[in-house]
Amino acid sequence: MRPAPDLLARRLLFFTGKGGVGKSTVAAATALLAAERGQRVLVVEADDKGNLPRHFEAAPVGFQPREVYPGVHVMAMRTEDSLKEYLRLNLRVPVLSRLGPLARALEFVATAAPGVKEILTVGKVCWEVRESIEGRADWDLVVVDAAATGHIIGQLDAPRGIKELVSVGMVRQQTDWMVELLSDPAITALNVVATPEEMPVQETIELVERAKAELAVPLGLVLVNRVLPELFTRPDEETFEALREPEATKILDEQAGPGATSVLEAARLAVSLRRTRVAYLSELREAVELPLVYLPYLFVRDQGVRVTKMVAEELGQELGL
Ligand SMILES: Nc1ncnc2c1ncn2[C@@H]1O[C@H](COP(=O)(O)OP(=O)(O)O)[C@@H](O)[C@H]1O
Ligand SMILES: [Mg+2]
Repeated sequence: MRPAPDLLARRLLFFTGKGGVGKSTVAAATALLAAERGQRVLVVEADDKGNLPRHFEAAPVGFQPREVYPGVHVMAMRTEDSLKEYLRLNLRVPVLSRLGPLARALEFVATAAPGVKEILTVGKVCWEVRESIEGRADWDLVVVDAAATGHIIGQLDAPRGIKELVSVGMVRQQTDWMVELLSDPAITALNVVATPEEMPVQETIELVERAKAELAVPLGLVLVNRVLPELFTRPDEETFEALREPEATKILDEQAGPGATSVLEAARLAVSLRRTRVAYLSELREAVELPLVYLPYLFVRDQGVRVTKMVAEELGQELGL
Protein backbone atom coordinates (compact mmCIF):
# COMPACT_ATOMS: atom_id res chain seq x y z
CA MET A 1 0.00 0.00 0.00
CA ARG A 2 1.46 3.34 -1.05
CA PRO A 3 1.45 5.76 1.88
CA ALA A 4 -0.85 8.75 1.70
CA PRO A 5 1.11 12.00 1.83
CA ASP A 6 0.28 14.52 4.47
CA LEU A 7 -2.49 16.17 2.54
CA LEU A 8 -3.30 18.86 5.07
CA ALA A 9 0.31 20.01 5.31
CA ARG A 10 0.02 21.72 1.91
CA ARG A 11 -1.48 25.15 1.49
CA LEU A 12 -3.34 24.73 -1.77
CA LEU A 13 -5.43 21.70 -2.67
CA PHE A 14 -7.29 21.38 -5.94
CA PHE A 15 -10.01 18.78 -6.37
CA THR A 16 -11.12 17.61 -9.76
CA GLY A 17 -13.11 14.60 -10.98
CA LYS A 18 -15.81 13.54 -13.39
CA GLY A 19 -19.08 15.37 -12.69
CA GLY A 20 -21.20 13.70 -10.05
CA VAL A 21 -18.54 11.52 -8.43
CA GLY A 22 -18.51 13.58 -5.24
CA LYS A 23 -15.84 16.21 -6.00
CA SER A 24 -17.62 18.92 -4.02
CA THR A 25 -18.47 16.55 -1.17
CA VAL A 26 -14.82 15.53 -0.84
CA ALA A 27 -13.57 19.13 -1.13
CA ALA A 28 -16.03 20.19 1.59
CA ALA A 29 -15.06 17.22 3.77
CA THR A 30 -11.36 18.06 3.42
CA ALA A 31 -12.06 21.65 4.47
CA LEU A 32 -14.10 20.48 7.45
CA LEU A 33 -11.42 18.01 8.51
CA ALA A 34 -8.74 20.70 8.36
CA ALA A 35 -10.95 23.17 10.26
CA GLU A 36 -11.61 20.64 13.01
CA ARG A 37 -7.85 20.29 13.35
CA GLY A 38 -7.57 24.01 13.94
CA GLN A 39 -6.79 25.28 10.45
CA ARG A 40 -8.43 28.31 8.91
CA VAL A 41 -9.70 27.24 5.54
CA LEU A 42 -10.84 29.10 2.45
CA VAL A 43 -12.87 27.03 0.01
CA VAL A 44 -13.00 28.44 -3.51
CA GLU A 45 -15.87 27.31 -5.66
CA ALA A 46 -14.38 27.33 -9.13
CA ASP A 47 -16.72 24.86 -10.79
CA ASP A 48 -19.62 26.62 -12.51
CA LYS A 49 -22.07 23.92 -11.59
CA GLY A 50 -21.27 24.03 -7.91
CA ASN A 51 -23.25 24.89 -4.88
CA LEU A 52 -20.68 24.12 -2.26
CA PRO A 53 -22.28 25.85 0.74
CA ARG A 54 -25.04 23.25 0.45
CA HIS A 55 -22.56 20.76 1.93
CA PHE A 56 -22.55 22.94 5.05
CA GLU A 57 -26.30 23.66 4.92
CA ALA A 58 -25.50 27.30 4.18
CA ALA A 59 -26.96 29.69 1.58
CA PRO A 60 -25.03 30.30 -1.66
CA VAL A 61 -22.09 32.70 -1.35
CA GLY A 62 -20.64 35.41 -3.59
CA PHE A 63 -17.10 36.58 -4.35
CA GLN A 64 -16.62 37.76 -0.76
CA PRO A 65 -15.73 34.79 1.48
CA ARG A 66 -18.30 33.93 4.13
CA GLU A 67 -17.91 31.60 7.08
CA VAL A 68 -20.24 28.63 6.59
CA TYR A 69 -18.86 26.47 9.39
CA PRO A 70 -16.47 27.31 12.22
CA GLY A 71 -13.10 27.78 10.51
CA VAL A 72 -14.43 27.28 6.97
CA HIS A 73 -15.01 30.25 4.67
CA VAL A 74 -16.40 29.78 1.17
CA MET A 75 -16.22 32.11 -1.83
CA ALA A 76 -17.65 31.62 -5.30
CA MET A 77 -15.32 32.48 -8.16
CA ARG A 78 -16.65 35.32 -10.31
CA THR A 79 -14.17 36.22 -13.00
CA GLU A 80 -15.47 39.79 -13.41
CA ASP A 81 -15.07 40.42 -9.70
CA SER A 82 -11.65 38.87 -9.83
CA LEU A 83 -10.71 41.20 -12.68
CA LYS A 84 -12.00 44.27 -10.84
CA GLU A 85 -10.05 43.28 -7.75
CA TYR A 86 -6.93 42.80 -9.85
CA LEU A 87 -7.31 46.21 -11.45
CA ARG A 88 -7.98 47.88 -8.13
CA LEU A 89 -4.90 46.30 -6.53
CA ASN A 90 -2.53 46.66 -9.44
CA LEU A 91 -3.53 49.75 -11.30
CA ARG A 92 -4.58 51.57 -8.13
CA VAL A 93 -7.53 53.08 -9.92
CA PRO A 94 -8.87 55.52 -7.34
CA VAL A 95 -12.55 55.47 -8.08
CA LEU A 96 -13.88 52.12 -9.00
CA SER A 97 -16.98 53.57 -10.63
CA ARG A 98 -14.82 55.41 -13.17
CA LEU A 99 -13.69 52.04 -14.30
CA GLY A 100 -17.09 51.34 -15.82
CA PRO A 101 -16.49 51.25 -19.59
CA LEU A 102 -12.98 49.85 -19.22
CA ALA A 103 -14.16 47.10 -16.93
CA ARG A 104 -16.92 46.28 -19.36
CA ALA A 105 -14.44 46.11 -22.20
CA LEU A 106 -12.13 43.93 -20.17
CA GLU A 107 -15.00 41.74 -19.12
CA PHE A 108 -15.58 41.12 -22.76
CA VAL A 109 -11.94 40.20 -23.19
CA ALA A 110 -12.12 38.10 -20.06
CA THR A 111 -14.89 35.96 -21.42
CA ALA A 112 -13.76 35.90 -25.03
CA ALA A 113 -9.98 35.35 -25.02
CA PRO A 114 -8.77 31.84 -24.32
CA GLY A 115 -7.07 31.42 -20.98
CA VAL A 116 -8.13 34.78 -19.56
CA LYS A 117 -11.11 33.46 -17.60
CA GLU A 118 -8.88 30.70 -16.26
CA ILE A 119 -6.07 33.06 -15.31
CA LEU A 120 -8.50 35.23 -13.38
CA THR A 121 -9.68 32.15 -11.50
CA VAL A 122 -6.34 30.58 -10.76
CA GLY A 123 -4.75 34.00 -10.25
CA LYS A 124 -7.19 34.85 -7.48
CA VAL A 125 -6.61 31.47 -5.85
CA CYS A 126 -2.82 31.88 -6.01
CA TRP A 127 -3.10 35.41 -4.70
CA GLU A 128 -5.01 34.25 -1.60
CA VAL A 129 -2.33 31.61 -0.98
CA ARG A 130 0.51 34.09 -1.42
CA GLU A 131 -1.19 36.61 0.86
CA SER A 132 -1.51 33.99 3.58
CA ILE A 133 2.09 32.78 3.18
CA GLU A 134 3.22 36.38 3.57
CA GLY A 135 0.97 36.91 6.57
CA ARG A 136 -1.55 39.30 5.02
CA ALA A 137 -4.37 36.78 4.90
CA ASP A 138 -5.42 34.26 7.51
CA TRP A 139 -5.78 31.05 5.54
CA ASP A 140 -3.79 28.01 6.56
CA LEU A 141 -5.29 26.12 3.67
CA VAL A 142 -7.04 26.98 0.42
CA VAL A 143 -9.25 24.21 -0.99
CA VAL A 144 -10.48 24.57 -4.55
CA ASP A 145 -13.57 22.80 -5.84
CA ALA A 146 -11.99 23.03 -9.28
CA ALA A 147 -13.16 22.35 -12.83
CA ALA A 148 -14.21 18.80 -13.76
CA THR A 149 -11.73 16.45 -15.44
CA GLY A 150 -12.46 17.78 -18.94
CA HIS A 151 -11.48 21.38 -18.08
CA ILE A 152 -8.98 21.15 -15.27
CA ILE A 153 -5.86 21.13 -17.46
CA GLY A 154 -6.91 24.41 -19.09
CA GLN A 155 -7.74 25.91 -15.70
CA LEU A 156 -4.42 25.03 -14.09
CA ASP A 157 -2.20 25.57 -17.09
CA ALA A 158 -3.41 29.13 -17.77
CA PRO A 159 -0.50 30.90 -16.01
CA ARG A 160 2.07 28.89 -17.94
CA GLY A 161 0.17 29.30 -21.19
CA ILE A 162 0.02 33.04 -20.79
CA LYS A 163 3.62 33.16 -19.67
CA GLU A 164 4.68 31.46 -22.87
CA LEU A 165 2.50 33.76 -24.91
CA VAL A 166 3.73 36.98 -23.36
CA SER A 167 7.41 36.78 -22.69
CA VAL A 168 8.08 40.26 -21.40
CA GLY A 169 6.75 42.93 -19.14
CA MET A 170 4.17 43.06 -16.44
CA VAL A 171 2.17 40.06 -17.49
CA ARG A 172 5.26 37.92 -17.36
CA GLN A 173 6.04 39.08 -13.84
CA GLN A 174 2.46 38.49 -12.89
CA THR A 175 2.51 34.88 -13.97
CA ASP A 176 6.00 33.81 -12.89
CA TRP A 177 5.15 33.72 -9.19
CA MET A 178 1.93 31.82 -9.92
CA VAL A 179 3.75 29.13 -11.87
CA GLU A 180 6.26 28.88 -9.03
CA LEU A 181 3.57 28.53 -6.41
CA LEU A 182 1.50 26.07 -8.44
CA SER A 183 4.45 23.82 -9.17
CA ASP A 184 5.82 23.64 -5.61
CA PRO A 185 5.02 20.19 -4.15
CA ALA A 186 5.38 21.53 -0.62
CA ILE A 187 2.52 23.95 -1.31
CA THR A 188 0.20 22.61 -3.98
CA ALA A 189 -1.46 19.32 -4.92
CA LEU A 190 -4.00 18.36 -7.53
CA ASN A 191 -6.26 15.59 -6.23
CA VAL A 192 -8.63 13.52 -8.30
CA VAL A 193 -11.95 12.20 -7.01
CA ALA A 194 -13.30 9.07 -8.70
CA THR A 195 -15.80 6.31 -8.10
CA PRO A 196 -15.17 2.60 -8.79
CA GLU A 197 -17.12 2.73 -12.06
CA GLU A 198 -16.07 2.49 -15.69
CA MET A 199 -16.18 6.13 -16.86
CA PRO A 200 -14.84 7.81 -13.71
CA VAL A 201 -11.94 5.34 -13.62
CA GLN A 202 -11.21 5.89 -17.32
CA GLU A 203 -11.27 9.67 -16.95
CA THR A 204 -9.04 9.51 -13.89
CA ILE A 205 -6.43 7.39 -15.66
CA GLU A 206 -6.44 9.72 -18.67
CA LEU A 207 -6.30 12.85 -16.57
CA VAL A 208 -3.39 11.63 -14.46
CA GLU A 209 -1.44 10.84 -17.64
CA ARG A 210 -2.19 14.23 -19.16
CA ALA A 211 -1.45 16.09 -15.94
CA LYS A 212 1.94 14.39 -15.69
CA ALA A 213 2.76 15.26 -19.27
CA GLU A 214 1.31 18.75 -19.53
CA LEU A 215 1.09 20.31 -16.08
CA ALA A 216 3.71 21.55 -13.67
CA VAL A 217 1.21 21.15 -10.82
CA PRO A 218 2.13 18.18 -8.58
CA LEU A 219 -0.41 15.40 -8.23
CA GLY A 220 -1.62 14.45 -4.77
CA LEU A 221 -4.13 11.69 -4.11
CA VAL A 222 -6.79 9.79 -5.94
CA LEU A 223 -9.81 9.65 -3.69
CA VAL A 224 -12.09 6.78 -4.57
CA ASN A 225 -15.52 7.71 -3.35
CA ARG A 226 -18.64 5.57 -2.91
CA VAL A 227 -16.77 2.32 -2.38
CA LEU A 228 -19.31 -0.36 -1.54
CA PRO A 229 -18.87 -2.16 1.76
CA GLU A 230 -18.24 -5.87 1.79
CA LEU A 231 -21.59 -6.91 3.20
CA PHE A 232 -21.20 -10.66 2.84
CA THR A 233 -18.50 -13.25 3.23
CA ARG A 234 -17.86 -16.24 0.93
CA PRO A 235 -19.70 -18.63 3.31
CA ASP A 236 -22.64 -16.17 3.29
CA GLU A 237 -22.69 -16.37 -0.50
CA GLU A 238 -22.73 -20.16 -0.38
CA THR A 239 -25.65 -20.01 2.03
CA PHE A 240 -27.52 -17.66 -0.34
CA GLU A 241 -26.94 -20.03 -3.25
CA ALA A 242 -28.19 -22.96 -1.16
CA LEU A 243 -31.29 -20.97 -0.28
CA ARG A 244 -31.99 -20.51 -3.99
CA GLU A 245 -32.46 -24.25 -4.49
CA PRO A 246 -36.13 -25.08 -5.29
CA GLU A 247 -36.71 -27.01 -2.07
CA ALA A 248 -35.36 -24.11 -0.03
CA THR A 249 -37.28 -21.36 -1.87
CA LYS A 250 -40.48 -23.34 -1.48
CA ILE A 251 -40.05 -23.45 2.29
CA LEU A 252 -39.00 -19.79 2.38
CA ASP A 253 -42.05 -18.71 0.39
CA GLU A 254 -44.35 -20.71 2.65
CA GLN A 255 -42.76 -19.62 5.91
CA ALA A 256 -41.73 -16.04 5.25
CA GLY A 257 -43.88 -14.92 2.31
CA PRO A 258 -42.93 -14.23 -1.34
CA GLY A 259 -40.64 -11.31 -0.38
CA ALA A 260 -38.04 -13.71 0.99
CA THR A 261 -36.76 -14.75 -2.43
CA SER A 262 -36.49 -11.09 -3.52
CA VAL A 263 -34.15 -10.55 -0.59
CA LEU A 264 -31.96 -13.30 -2.02
CA GLU A 265 -31.95 -11.54 -5.39
CA ALA A 266 -30.91 -8.33 -3.68
CA ALA A 267 -28.07 -10.09 -1.86
CA ARG A 268 -26.86 -11.57 -5.14
CA LEU A 269 -26.99 -8.13 -6.78
CA ALA A 270 -25.00 -6.59 -3.90
CA VAL A 271 -22.34 -9.27 -4.29
CA SER A 272 -22.04 -8.86 -8.08
CA LEU A 273 -22.06 -5.04 -7.92
CA ARG A 274 -19.27 -5.08 -5.44
CA ARG A 275 -17.34 -7.55 -7.53
CA THR A 276 -17.46 -5.46 -10.73
CA ARG A 277 -16.46 -2.39 -8.75
CA VAL A 278 -13.53 -4.25 -7.27
CA ALA A 279 -12.37 -4.91 -10.84
CA TYR A 280 -12.44 -1.17 -11.63
CA LEU A 281 -10.54 -0.49 -8.45
CA SER A 282 -7.77 -2.89 -9.45
CA GLU A 283 -7.61 -1.31 -12.89
CA LEU A 284 -7.20 2.11 -11.30
CA ARG A 285 -4.59 0.86 -8.84
CA GLU A 286 -2.55 -0.66 -11.62
CA ALA A 287 -2.73 2.29 -14.01
CA VAL A 288 -2.17 5.15 -11.61
CA GLU A 289 0.95 5.49 -9.49
CA LEU A 290 -0.59 7.72 -6.88
CA PRO A 291 -1.72 7.01 -3.34
CA LEU A 292 -5.35 5.85 -3.33
CA VAL A 293 -7.73 6.74 -0.54
CA TYR A 294 -11.06 4.95 -0.19
CA LEU A 295 -14.25 6.56 1.00
CA PRO A 296 -17.26 4.34 1.59
CA TYR A 297 -20.68 4.59 0.03
CA LEU A 298 -22.82 6.23 2.68
CA PHE A 299 -26.33 4.93 2.83
CA VAL A 300 -27.92 8.18 3.87
CA ARG A 301 -30.58 10.25 2.22
CA ASP A 302 -29.67 13.80 3.10
CA GLN A 303 -26.76 15.78 1.62
CA GLY A 304 -26.12 18.29 4.35
CA VAL A 305 -23.39 18.85 6.87
CA ARG A 306 -23.99 15.43 8.42
CA VAL A 307 -22.79 13.73 5.23
CA THR A 308 -19.83 16.13 4.99
CA LYS A 309 -18.89 15.23 8.56
CA MET A 310 -19.17 11.51 7.87
CA VAL A 311 -16.96 11.77 4.78
CA ALA A 312 -14.48 13.95 6.74
CA GLU A 313 -14.28 11.33 9.45
CA GLU A 314 -13.60 8.54 6.94
CA LEU A 315 -11.02 10.72 5.21
CA GLY A 316 -9.30 11.44 8.52
CA GLN A 317 -9.06 7.72 9.23
CA GLU A 318 -7.69 6.96 5.77
CA LEU A 319 -5.06 9.67 6.15
CA GLY A 320 -4.14 8.40 9.60
CA LEU A 321 -5.11 11.68 11.29
N1 LIG B 1 -19.62 8.64 -0.20
C1 LIG B 1 -20.87 8.96 -0.60
N2 LIG B 1 -21.90 8.14 -0.34
C2 LIG B 1 -23.13 8.45 -0.75
N3 LIG B 1 -23.46 9.55 -1.43
C3 LIG B 1 -22.49 10.42 -1.74
C4 LIG B 1 -21.13 10.17 -1.35
N4 LIG B 1 -20.38 11.21 -1.81
C5 LIG B 1 -21.22 12.04 -2.45
N5 LIG B 1 -22.48 11.59 -2.42
C6 LIG B 1 -23.67 12.23 -3.03
O1 LIG B 1 -23.49 12.22 -4.44
C7 LIG B 1 -24.05 13.39 -5.02
C8 LIG B 1 -23.03 14.10 -5.88
O2 LIG B 1 -22.01 14.62 -5.05
P1 LIG B 1 -21.28 16.03 -5.36
O3 LIG B 1 -20.21 16.18 -4.33
O4 LIG B 1 -22.26 17.11 -5.52
O5 LIG B 1 -20.62 15.64 -6.77
P2 LIG B 1 -19.78 16.52 -7.81
O6 LIG B 1 -19.32 17.76 -7.11
O7 LIG B 1 -18.65 15.62 -8.20
O8 LIG B 1 -20.69 16.78 -8.96
C9 LIG B 1 -24.56 14.23 -3.87
O9 LIG B 1 -25.93 14.02 -3.72
C10 LIG B 1 -23.80 13.69 -2.66
O10 LIG B 1 -24.50 13.89 -1.47
MG1 LIG C 1 -19.82 19.78 -7.51
